[in-house]
Amino acid sequence: MRRTLKAAILGATGLVGIEYVRMLADHPYIKPAYLAGKGSVGKPYGEIVRWQTVGNVPKEIANQEVKPTDPKLMDDVDIVFSPLPQGAAGPVEEQFAKLGFNVVSNSPDHRFDMDVPMIIPEVNPHTVTLIDEQRKRRDWKGFIVTTPLCTAQGAAIPLTPIYQNFKMSGVMITTMQSLSGAGYPGIASLDIVDNALPLGDGYDAKTVKEITRILSEVKRNVPEPGVNEITLDATTHRIATIHGHYEVAYVTFKEDTDVRKVMDSMESFKGEPQDLKLPTAPEKPILVTTQDARPQVFFDRWAGNPPGMSVVVGRLKQVNPRTIRFVSLIHNTVRGAAGGGVLTAELLIEKGYIDKR
Ligand SMILES: NC(=O)c1ccc[n+]([C@@H]2O[C@H](COP(=O)([O-])OP(=O)(O)OC[C@H]3O[C@@H](n4cnc5c(N)ncnc54)[C@H](OP(=O)(O)O)[C@@H]3O)[C@@H](O)[C@H]2O)c1
Repeated sequence: MRRTLKAAILGATGLVGIEYVRMLADHPYIKPAYLAGKGSVGKPYGEIVRWQTVGNVPKEIANQEVKPTDPKLMDDVDIVFSPLPQGAAGPVEEQFAKLGFNVVSNSPDHRFDMDVPMIIPEVNPHTVTLIDEQRKRRDWKGFIVTTPLCTAQGAAIPLTPIYQNFKMSGVMITTMQSLSGAGYPGIASLDIVDNALPLGDGYDAKTVKEITRILSEVKRNVPEPGVNEITLDATTHRIATIHGHYEVAYVTFKEDTDVRKVMDSMESFKGEPQDLKLPTAPEKPILVTTQDARPQVFFDRWAGNPPGMSVVVGRLKQVNPRTIRFVSLIHNTVRGAAGGGVLTAELLIEKGYIDKR
């Protein structure tokens, strides 16, 4: 019999933290047992939290007190979800892992440590074995795994079946990202209302860097070109939507490539979470729409089951025999953060990295 595992959610009052609370409140075997924060410590969760998502604060959680981010108080916790802000996250996560905690992080601080997996469970599940190296090198009983930048996931998930099956030579991405991607309170209203705000060269570059790492960890059916031979670029923007990153991609190939075959590869794409029937795995990680003028952020961001776990792809077009276009929409705080974190934890449990007995 599987026991119920106890989870701590660090940053539980944040925009990603609330999605963890929402998703774990209904989870079959992981329960939110410890809610941690900083400014909100000592207050009842239901009173202090800004519940900027669907539904209401789960009843059984509303009265829980927000506690300090202190591993000494979390003795009986099996999994630590860490959507802490950049900079604050790194040292806290190391402290937890050193003490034997299993940390699933959404923050960027450890994403490029050579022994830390950066996981999209359908795309590179085999990289969990980096944990063995991490524990050995650092002499840790616990570990840190990360999930990638939400923007990178919105492109990398649909690009995976393309990269697996066709000879890509280039990808040009333009993003329109929601406000919640910047956390609470985010961007000053006067900077974003009536505006499309370029996120700048640094954000463009980290998007490309993360997509490159993810694709380099994909198992392929075609021998070449390797990921470093593919020209990859991104131009990133923030717009005044609340949730959902909308991305436009132009993909070029080394040989004539039929957009219908590309579409079929996306529609049939599945991974280990689907084979293992993990509770947070959507039946289809990519939902392809052929409806004109879809996906739309407002109507499609909660696509899939569990809601928000499928990336919606549409507007597929054969631009010329060697170029196609598609757009994708990802729920940034769900598939791009908390949902991806819960699915990663389920995979780690299934693979024996988190004890379920
Ligand atoms: N938002 C997204 O779409 C998204 C997607 C992927 C990844 N991420 C990553 O997820 C992380 C969190 O993002 P978010 O949007 O949820 O941010 P957020 O809304 O600003 O929430 C931050 C949370 O962290 C807590 N906190 C702040 N400083 C802390 C500290 N020094 N020690 C302990 N707790 C602290 C806050 O607690 P109090 O309220 O109690 O002060 C709050 O709960 C970031 O690293 C971000 O890059 C975000």
